[in-house]
Amino acid sequence: MPAHLLQIAKKLGHDAGLLALDYQKKGFKIETKGSSFNFVTEADKACEKLIVDSIRHNFPDHSILSEEMGEIKGNGEYKWIIDPIDGTTNFAHGQPIFGISIGIVKNGKPIIGVVEIPALKESFWAMEGKGAYLGNKRLQVSKVAETSGALFATGFPYSRAERYEKNMELFDAFYKNSHGVRRFGAASVDLCFLAAGRFDAYWEFDLKAWDIAAGKIIVEEAGGTVTNMDGSTLDPKRGSLLSSNSLLHQQMLNILKKHGADRI
Ligand code: IPD
Ligand code: CA
Ligand code: CA
Repeated sequence: MPAHLLQIAKKLGHDAGLLALDYQKKGFKIETKGSSFNFVTEADKACEKLIVDSIRHNFPDHSILSEEMGEIKGNGEYKWIIDPIDGTTNFAHGQPIFGISIGIVKNGKPIIGVVEIPALKESFWAMEGKGAYLGNKRLQVSKVAETSGALFATGFPYSRAERYEKNMELFDAFYKNSHGVRRFGAASVDLCFLAAGRFDAYWEFDLKAWDIAAGKIIVEEAGGTVTNMDGSTLDPKRGSLLSSNSLLHQQMLNILKKHGADRI
């Protein structure tokens, strides 16, 4: 079953990716949700429909949690966790850094992650115990062992006002003693780039289950570590995330603690 699920998840990521690119070319309607800088586009909804309709057709007993649509409760052991377009702000501004993120958990345990980055023609995926891949290439996190030699990524969540100071403080702390800090604007892409050794660590507050579900297993299967910012087991409801190449994890936890980020 998992191999069959993986094939379907990859195909859905691929097809939704092409659909998103098509919308980016021809144009789309944009609405806001919650704040003037949190968008949902016609493309988010169309990609979500493509993915969700296919899951419901192929696996009517599977549960689904998808960002725009919410939750559909099934009565099977599998649950799909979907972000139809992760990086919507980038997408809406015509930028290439956005991903289709599809995670599958079995009885609550992540077993499959697929992140399609269509504008880069990159397909990341992982299966529990079988490794993480970019296309056919097996992925391994970097071997950088000192923060002074690391390239970091972070993200600034929609909870801008609440997190402004802590985000700036951490950016400053890691920026000063590293090769730099990038802020690409798509959590699933940040996690995949960490898995591929393009970043050495990534942190962000207030993420949601659909931002993380696929990327977490891709990082772990590439040898990385993903926890809350206090080092505890990642709780998607809490949303505080530190991910690293494992070698840097403790050093980063120490710095996060020094700045009080472990209490968030
Ligand atoms: C967002 C992106 C962004 C991150 C935000 C997420 P969305 O997802 O992943 O990088 O900083 O926290 O909510 O809204 O584009 O799907
Ligand atoms: Ca997202
Ligand atoms: Ca999204």
